[in-house]
Amino acid sequence: MLRSKLSAIAAALALGTTVAVPAVQAQDKVLNLYSARHYQTDENLYAEFTRQTGIRINRIEAGDEAILERLRNEGANSPADVILLVDAARLWKAQVEGLFQPLKSALLEARIPPTLRGKDDGKGSEWFGISTRARVIVYNKAKIDPALVQNYEDLARPELKGKVCTRSGAHPYMLSLIGAMSEHLGEAKAEQWASGVVANFARSPRGGDTDQIRAVATGECGVALTNTYYLVRLMRSNKPADREVAERVGMVWPNQKSFGTHVNVSGAALARHAPHRENAVRFIEYLAGDAAQAYLAGGNNEWPVVSSVKLNNRELESLGAFKADSLPLASIGRAQIAASKIIDRTGWR
Ligand code: FE2
Repeated sequence: MLRSKLSAIAAALALGTTVAVPAVQAQDKVLNLYSARHYQTDENLYAEFTRQTGIRINRIEAGDEAILERLRNEGANSPADVILLVDAARLWKAQVEGLFQPLKSALLEARIPPTLRGKDDGKGSEWFGISTRARVIVYNKAKIDPALVQNYEDLARPELKGKVCTRSGAHPYMLSLIGAMSEHLGEAKAEQWASGVVANFARSPRGGDTDQIRAVATGECGVALTNTYYLVRLMRSNKPADREVAERVGMVWPNQKSFGTHVNVSGAALARHAPHRENAVRFIEYLAGDAAQAYLAGGNNEWPVVSSVKLNNRELESLGAFKADSLPLASIGRAQIAASKIIDRTGWR
């Protein structure tokens, strides 16, 4: 009798211990963030979250693919709570691999449009867009007639021989665009287009988007592709030389008469094995708040995903309104295999 009473007490104590563990974890004022965002202005955004909540953010920064690789290797032991990636295709890949977990949040559902979210029905893995950017054509105003470069397809025109520059086709921003082209044109035509672009290269792909804009300004390249925020960053720079670079280039919203300009997202997700789940949800909801949205978008010259949030960014607004490609982000994700084949076969490296 006494023996069974003792074991009942032991069981209760054991239960008490297991109940106490999550309680202790919830009090841990910490959050582990794996981020592929590479923008200095985000620092203040993280600091503000810590100021409001007392939750300290440990940050690991790496490229999208390196972060996914790390999550795969760490498996169930991963300390990651929140993942920030900067490309729809990589978000989709992580989603289908089940590297994220479901996040039921009325706030996120109300504020972020369904087209800017992703969820895997099988694995329940879910992510939320937090800002958007467009991939546009820039050209040297003195050397190129913009009528020649109104569409992504135009980059393959024979008139542009020796004039086209891009970063490597293997970069996520390029893979997503090439994937979108494959969805729109079909894989065979997209490959034909890609070989035309490669045949028009002024030089082998090197550097990032800003390097392409600079090379267009000097005239080494006639036209190039860039994410909008790199251009606006130069326009808003406090260095006169940067502003001069921006002055020398013109910008085109591609494909306004057809499928629209390619848009990509940066997005946040709850890591599959998040040890600080509550803090993580709080952080992702914070990112969808008015102040954070204005800050995220304004700081890096992107657009907020929450439509009611207004930006105060004269240079970004000066680019004007445009028709965005409405291709679902999941299609861009699925098209990555086609895009990889295309860059391999055409040598867009
Ligand atoms: Fe970037």
